[in-house]
Amino acid sequence: MPFDRLQPKIKTILSNNSETVEQRLTEVCELLQTSIGYYDWVGFYFANKAERTLHLKAFAGEPTDHTVIPFGKGICGQVAESNKNFVVPDVKAQTNYIACSIYVKAEIVVPLFKEGENIGQIDIDSNTADPFSSEDEQFLEWVNSQVAEIL
Ligand code: SME
Repeated sequence: MPFDRLQPKIKTILSNNSETVEQRLTEVCELLQTSIGYYDWVGFYFANKAERTLHLKAFAGEPTDHTVIPFGKGICGQVAESNKNFVVPDVKAQTNYIACSIYVKAEIVVPLFKEGENIGQIDIDSNTADPFSSEDEQFLEWVNSQVAEIL
């Protein structure tokens, strides 16, 4: 499904105040994971700045052991420090990488800003090699901006 057709669905999910934030984020993960063929695992991590750790709050796809990630570790931990999108076309080429599944070939992590502060991130794993373009980055930045409004 094209990104522009997902946008109204995401807005509808996030505006449902009868559900918790965690439930709504899980539904967003499920929508993305089921609608976009090369999004095999989708999750939101949020930062504990005092402890310098990321914590998995919602996801869709196979459960992961990596529910807590220290800042600086893996792709996610690097984005917690860099405040920049990290697109990985080939995870095998990364030395600072935390493998969640042997099937994953590529990953994209986009930081989530609230009032200019990097408070978390969306993380997508793909079992397809080199699938992500600047359109994914723009779309995921938009998703994160919508999430920030309900936090
Ligand atoms: N691969 C990530 C860890 C999280 S899993 O993809 C769910 C990383 O290197 O930070």
